[in-house]
Amino acid sequence: MKNTEVWNISEKDYPINGTLKEILKFISGYAILAPSGHNTQPWKIKVNDNSIELLADFSRSLPVIDQMNRQLITGVGAAAGNFFTALNYFGFNYTYTFLKKERDNFSVLITPVKGRIANPKDKNLFLALTKRRTNRNPFDEKLIDGLIIQRFETIVSEERIKLLVQENENRNKLISIIEEGDKIQSSNQKFCKELSEWVHPERADSKDGIPGYAFGQNDMISTSGPFYIGNLDWGKIQAGRDRNLIKGSPLIVILESKNNTPEDWFKTGVALERLLLCAASENISASYLNQPLEIPELNQKVKSELNIKGVPQQILRMGYGKTVKPTPRRKLEEVFL
Ligand SMILES: Cc1cc2nc3c(=O)[nH]c(=O)nc-3n(C[C@H](O)[C@H](O)[C@H](O)COP(=O)(O)O)c2cc1C
Repeated sequence: MKNTEVWNISEKDYPINGTLKEILKFISGYAILAPSGHNTQPWKIKVNDNSIELLADFSRSLPVIDQMNRQLITGVGAAAGNFFTALNYFGFNYTYTFLKKERDNFSVLITPVKGRIANPKDKNLFLALTKRRTNRNPFDEKLIDGLIIQRFETIVSEERIKLLVQENENRNKLISIIEEGDKIQSSNQKFCKELSEWVHPERADSKDGIPGYAFGQNDMISTSGPFYIGNLDWGKIQAGRDRNLIKGSPLIVILESKNNTPEDWFKTGVALERLLLCAASENISASYLNQPLEIPELNQKVKSELNIKGVPQQILRMGYGKTVKPTPRRKLEEVFL
């Protein structure tokens, strides 16, 4: 696997006698492991003497699938979630303020505050930073314990995000809406072109985008990649695949925010990543079923048919699955301003 060296970051290299600036540079190495839509890694980091600025990088936007930059700013929130998790583990609390909060101009100032008392939850989440992956394979039948689901609810509520567990009838409704989403997206030439530009077959030497191996088994994208997306009617195949994946997943959840501002997207990203880390610390995997949220008429359908009062931001399936490989990342130096 190429360009995955950044995943080998080790706490042994923490600059214990270093300046705060050196510590913040080191901790930034965990932020860049965050997930992002199509693995665009839409962030830049400016390390100051006593704080960092985390900025959205709009040169890495996805104008077709993510017209509003909602997913982009959610990805920045996920990077912040990693940063916060590492800060806590290394003994810092933190405050953050939004410097810019427009959907095309967005940045956050994060300031560490020394003196956090070590606790086991911080350690578990920290250890999951290098273990978390998006897992697009089918999951085992094994159910997720109710107490763990309660922990998931608590961790996202820290960012004022709700975790809505989807059961029985709602699952069936979701299956048909997601199938509709697959078919609409696959017949949209602009969507296919954009996706194919970010999907790379295994031999590619890319530092971003989704490598073929990150698609699940039996997924044709994994072998024929951009050709498949650009030339075949894959909507029907993908819809059938998603139906089976959803049916076989022990847990389907929706993350709901109250409003739909760039601040809400950022907080959703923090909550999403903290949820994924909490899951990874229990060896629970997750992957995304966001296609209906990216199509305005289906987004409305999700809200009305599932009776969601706020704003649905992310749809995830979760469960126990086989281990998957990490995806590429740019090196830290390429992300620093
Ligand atoms: C906000 C956000 C939205 C995402 N949406 C999707 C999605 O709709 N479908 C999907 O397969 N993966 C989705 N992903 C997962 C990314 O493709 C994945 O994080 C990226 O390829 C890097 O891989 P990793 O998560 O294994 O590190 C999303 C990730 C984020 C943070």
